[in-house]
Amino acid sequence: MRILGIETSCDETSAAVVEEGVVCSNVVQGQADLHAAYGGVVPELASRAHIRHIFPVVTEALRQSNCTGHSLDGIAVTAGPGLIGGLLVGLAVAKGMAMALEKPLIGIHHMEGHLMSPFLRAEGETPSDCDFPFVALLVSGGHTWLLYAERFGRYRLLGQTRDDAAGEAFDKGARMLGLPYPGGPAIAALAQEGDRQAVRFPRAWMDRERFDFSFSGLKTALRTHLLTHPLEADDLQGHRDVAASYQEALVEVLVGKSLAACRAVGSRRLLVAGGVGANQRLRTVLTQQAGAVQVWVPPLPFCTDNGAMIALAGWHRLRLGQCSDWSLNVRPRWPIAELSA
Ligand code: KG4
Ligand code: ZN
Repeated sequence: MRILGIETSCDETSAAVVEEGVVCSNVVQGQADLHAAYGGVVPELASRAHIRHIFPVVTEALRQSNCTGHSLDGIAVTAGPGLIGGLLVGLAVAKGMAMALEKPLIGIHHMEGHLMSPFLRAEGETPSDCDFPFVALLVSGGHTWLLYAERFGRYRLLGQTRDDAAGEAFDKGARMLGLPYPGGPAIAALAQEGDRQAVRFPRAWMDRERFDFSFSGLKTALRTHLLTHPLEADDLQGHRDVAASYQEALVEVLVGKSLAACRAVGSRRLLVAGGVGANQRLRTVLTQQAGAVQVWVPPLPFCTDNGAMIALAGWHRLRLGQCSDWSLNVRPRWPIAELSA
C-alpha cells in the first residue's frame, strides 16, 4: 500500500510517500528562519507559511516518488495535536485530495506518527528489528511522554511532563543563552566542547516510583545562574560549559526515568522518538546505561517533524480498517488516552 502523509502541526510543512515502511520521498520545508527572531514559533506566521509551502511540498513529494495521486492507496494527515492554523491547512489539502481522487482519508495523532518513526527505512535498507511491545519516550517541542505501547493503537501513559516539554526546555534555555530557535540543536552544538560538570543544575526526579517529568525548575535554575554568574559575550568556553551542564541535567532525567519505566513494566525494549531524540548526548548516555534494554531511535531525518511518519501511521490505521470520514476535524488538543483502543 502506498500512502501520502501530510504534516503541518507546527513549523515544518512536510509531505511524504511511504510504501509499507519504505520511504519513497520525504519533503520537509522548515520555517526556522521565520521564527528565529522571536525565540519560538509564532502561530499566525506559521500558518501563513504552511499555506505558501503546502502545494509545492506535496507536488515535490509525489514527483520524487515517481507516483501520481491516482496511484495512492490513502492520504494520511496530522489532525492534532498542534497549532490550529497549521493543522487546518494540512487537513484542507488532504481532504480536498482525498475527495477529488476518491481515496481513503486517515486522520493521525501527531505523537503516534513520532512513535512510528523508528520503523521507517530507505529503499534497499534492511527493516529495523523494532517491534511491539515496548516502552516509548516521546520527546518533542510540545510533549514529553513515557508510554507503554502494547501494540499499534494500544498505549498506556506511564508519565508526562507537568510543565515544560523537554524540547521547550531546550528552546527556552537556548534563548537565555542568546542562541537561535530551535534551541535543541543550538545547545547540542555549543555543548560539544563544554564541561558537563561545570554547573550542577538540579535534576527533578520527584516521585521515583512515578514517571512524570518537570523541567521548569531547571529553567529557573539556569536563569538564576546566568543572573548570579553573568557570562561575558565573548566568553565562548563559559557558554559551552553552561550549555553542556544544562543539557546534561535534561539528558540524565530523561534517561533515568525511561530506564526506570522499562524496569517497572518489565520491558527490555525502549523506543525514543520526537525532535529531542535527535540529541546525540541523549543517544550516547542511553546506549551507555541501557544494559540489557534494547534501544531504538529513528534515523536522524525522521526525528523532527516529517510526513513519512504520518504516512506510516496512516498505513497501520488503514490496514486496521480505520479511516476517517469527511467530518474529520482538527484537534489542537488530543489526549493520548482517547487514541488508545
Ligand atoms: O518533534 P519536533 O520536530 O516538533 C514537535 O512536535 O514539537 O520537535 C522539535 C523540538 C524542538 O524543541 C527542538 O529544539 C528539539 O525538538 N530538538 C532538539 C534537537 N533537535 C531538535 N533538542 C535537542 N537536541 C537536538 N539535537
Ligand atoms: Zn513533532
